[in-house]
Amino acid sequence: MNIVLFGPPGAGKGTQAKELAKHYNIPHISTGDILRANVREGTKLGMKAKEYMDKGELVPDEVLIGIIRDRLQQPDCKNGYMLDGYPRTLPQAEALKEILEKIGKPLEVVLNIDVPDDELIDRLSGRRMCSCGESYHLIFNLPLKEGTCDSCGGKLYQRDDDKEEVVRQRLEVYAAKTKPLIDYYSDRGILVNIDGTGSVEDVFRQICDVLDPYRK
Ligand code: AP5
Repeated sequence: MNIVLFGPPGAGKGTQAKELAKHYNIPHISTGDILRANVREGTKLGMKAKEYMDKGELVPDEVLIGIIRDRLQQPDCKNGYMLDGYPRTLPQAEALKEILEKIGKPLEVVLNIDVPDDELIDRLSGRRMCSCGESYHLIFNLPLKEGTCDSCGGKLYQRDDDKEEVVRQRLEVYAAKTKPLIDYYSDRGILVNIDGTGSVEDVFRQICDVLDPYRK
């Protein structure tokens, strides 16, 4: 199953991808998570990426293309992959096509999770993260114990790029550079729109209805 989860910041890509990856037993590849891990570890790549991420800008294409090329060739992608947060520009989409042709794993479905901007701002400004990767929300998805991760007991924090002014910039960048990929994939006949405004469970069920026929 070769999938891209597409949508604006806060659409629920990460939330859904974690569950879908378990359900379909394919790796969840989030470029945002890979970049944040590099920031945490203080790598050269992380230090460079942080400058862009903190401003709500995209990290340069050549950096992301290199990351994805390496990651898709790992053995765990043998039976497929679920990309989250990549591609975000036309050059990234073109590079992906080339990489996938070379490794013989063409994209089957691009799921476009659609949520209106005002809801995206509410979701992102209320999001709280754990360094283990779990994500919560102050209203929609509370942890059992305030400020503490249900999975690992870690302390929850707000992502630097979830401050309201950075969120607005991320939404502008999405509209200018990433949204045009909806037409790109729609023209190729592999785009499926998902209404992302229901509960996490509703959205999960909608996505499974689309993906189940692709199960091998
Ligand atoms: P990245 O981490 O990919 O951020 P993003 O795309 O902006 O996505 P988010 O993680 O913010 O949102 P999401 O859709 O995953 O929503 P989530 O499930 O968490 O990228 C960060 C930065 O890295 C970029 O700005 C850029 O700088 C850089 N970068 C990454 N990839 C790049 C690339 N390819 N090229 C260049 N630069 C790149 O949900 C959000 C909140 O809503 C949570 O609190 C959640 O609990 C809640 N929620 C989820 N679903 C629902 C629901 N159905 N109802 C109510 N609440 C919900």
